[in-house]
Amino acid sequence: MGKDSKTKKSTKKKKAPVYLGLDENGEPPEFPYVRTSESAIHNRGLFAASDIPEGEYVIQYLGELIKKKESTRRANSQHERSLEEDVGAVYIFELDEKTDIDGNFEWNIARLANHSCSPNCEAQNVEGEIWLVSLTDINEGDEITFDYGYALEHWKEHPCLCGSENCVGHIVRKEDWDKLKKLKKRRKKKAS
Ligand SMILES: C[S@@+](CC[C@H](N)C(=O)[O-])C[C@H]1O[C@@H](n2cnc3c(N)ncnc32)[C@H](O)[C@@H]1O
Ligand SMILES: [Zn+2]
Repeated sequence: MGKDSKTKKSTKKKKAPVYLGLDENGEPPEFPYVRTSESAIHNRGLFAASDIPEGEYVIQYLGELIKKKESTRRANSQHERSLEEDVGAVYIFELDEKTDIDGNFEWNIARLANHSCSPNCEAQNVEGEIWLVSLTDINEGDEITFDYGYALEHWKEHPCLCGSENCVGHIVRKEDWDKLKKLKKRRKKKAS
């Protein structure tokens, strides 16, 4: 490599960020079914601004489309920040095997939806967009929640404060509940 090539600046252009869900003016759409407020589950949450029937598209998860490598980098930095300040940990949502959505933007109020073991919404991938869809009729003022679908692996790091009758104590996807219950039973037995 010659001397010149060492001092040459990279001419590789940085790609412009791609935002999902903003209109042509870069504005987020209005989602009349929801408002934000303090939550008994954690910090701030999302609440029904009116009665919502079952099966409604309540709100879209907006954000920047990012590849997995960048996603891991941002998730780690968001997680570290959350340990220093009491903010929601990670606002990254998996879209597909290659792409995630970083929803860590003020204008993405869907990021404030908390997890519940008895959720009233579910996250659905609707033709490449993530929407919270109501699983039941929701009353005005109820907190909007969904199942975060976390794998069992890091269960201890995610205690659940959803307060629902069938709360399993940790944020773990429903398919892993039986495994989680067995695991906790074994640990209790060992400790006694
Ligand atoms: C995407 S944020 C949700 C919004 C958050 N309440 C806020 O004010 O930023 C996710 C974080 O919220 C908290 N959280 C969400 N659901 C929870 C639950 N059921 N129990 C305890 N903490 C929860 C956890 O700290 C989690 O990492
Ligand atoms: Zn719970």
